[in-house]
Amino acid sequence: MFAKVSTFNPVPLVLTGPGALKKAAGRLRQVGYKRPLLVTDKGVASLPFFSELIDKLKEEKIDFVLYDKTQPNPPDTQVNEGAAIYKKERCDCLIAFGGGSPIDCAKAIGVLVSNGGKIQDYAKAFNTVPKPIPYLAAIPTTAGSGSECTAAAVVTNTEGHHYKMTIMDAHLLPSMAVVDPMIMLDLPPSLTSATGLDALTHAIEAYIALEANDYTNGLALGSIRLIFKYLPRAVANGRDVEARERMAYAQTMAGLAFNSAGLGLVHAMSHPLSATYNIPHGLANAMLLPWVMDFNLIACMEKMADIAIAADEDIHGLCPREAAAVAGQAVRRLTDDLGIIVNISEAAAASGTTADFEKDIARLVEDAMSDVFRPFNPRNSSAADIKAIYSKCWSSNTLELIEKLKSCM
Ligand SMILES: NC(=O)c1ccc[n+]([C@@H]2O[C@H](COP(=O)([O-])OP(=O)(O)OC[C@H]3O[C@@H](n4cnc5c(N)ncnc54)[C@H](O)[C@@H]3O)[C@@H](O)[C@H]2O)c1
Ligand SMILES: [Fe+2]
Repeated sequence: MFAKVSTFNPVPLVLTGPGALKKAAGRLRQVGYKRPLLVTDKGVASLPFFSELIDKLKEEKIDFVLYDKTQPNPPDTQVNEGAAIYKKERCDCLIAFGGGSPIDCAKAIGVLVSNGGKIQDYAKAFNTVPKPIPYLAAIPTTAGSGSECTAAAVVTNTEGHHYKMTIMDAHLLPSMAVVDPMIMLDLPPSLTSATGLDALTHAIEAYIALEANDYTNGLALGSIRLIFKYLPRAVANGRDVEARERMAYAQTMAGLAFNSAGLGLVHAMSHPLSATYNIPHGLANAMLLPWVMDFNLIACMEKMADIAIAADEDIHGLCPREAAAVAGQAVRRLTDDLGIIVNISEAAAASGTTADFEKDIARLVEDAMSDVFRPFNPRNSSAADIKAIYSKCWSSNTLELIEKLKSCM
């Protein structure tokens, strides 16, 4: 089955476990770096564990420069600004502290610092970054993106119409990932569920992706199992340390898996939604995931049944198609339990924008069609398929979904 040559490209070091944050500065000192650009966002910089990192850096006499302006779905303008500061302040490495947005912003800053030019120059195809980024210590504060262990950076293009560009090249892989679940204890329920569902989307898309191999499959399935079990607990009680710990590891496992296996149509379709309506990345994925799983069903029934088992569903006695369909239902039940917004119109309104199907659909479809992750999807997709999935997700409501769920129980 895996007769072709494929890759597994893990991050060189994962420093992980409760208290890992305290060791990060010491490790940086050990490897000889003294002047990092610390990339974060204002929200993260106001949280108590940020001072913990600062104190440790000072203790180790590491003379950092702070860049705390990163916004969610980071725009190209912040990448330019961060790169200019890095050069002006003669920094020698990068620390990214935050969710996927600051980590991606730091990677993209690194691309410009090492290679010059504009970030758009490196987003046209994979593997177009000639020189490695500087040493990067990536410290996630959400259990979602997995960006601390991926060779990808997602940046919003603001030249002309807004769309999300993915820069993917082994030269973007962080040098060290620091995964400390204690940092995530204060993540509010809405962010916990949206980012956790992003991690679930990574694991599911990686498991069924065309470039999946046995290494990535093990990590992806393990991650799916952990997320179904522990995400509801982490949302219900953020101070449930065991749940936070498992979610922290599950998101890293999903990142390691998709970094080599690729993603699929959910991400290809969610990127235009975030760029156009500012919908948070995890939420956009969560809304689309069950619909894309329905679409993908005929391409990978056995793997879908594996996902249902990993979700702890009983598929005993079901025919292969029914068993595969249980996976999508398990995702719908999970998003319902977590109270996630289930349609694009509502999600856009919640993000302060208006989703106008007639006006926007052609552009959304066009951007999804050209997204770099679409070719990894196990089922080929046309513009008409993508339009049909967007329209199902546009105004579906929770009641309809629950009816759909009941009919499958
Ligand atoms: N490079 C990759 O491999 C990869 C993978 C998936 C997603 N992404 C990208 O990552 C971005 C999404 O990242 P994200 O979902 O982690 O969120 P984010 O980084 O956009 O942060 C969202 C919000 O959460 C807040 N926050 C972060 N940690 C917190 C904490 N511990 N407590 C309280 N608030 C906290 C931030 O201040 C911010 O306001 C998107 O741009 C997406 O495209 C990248
Ligand atoms: Fe994602």
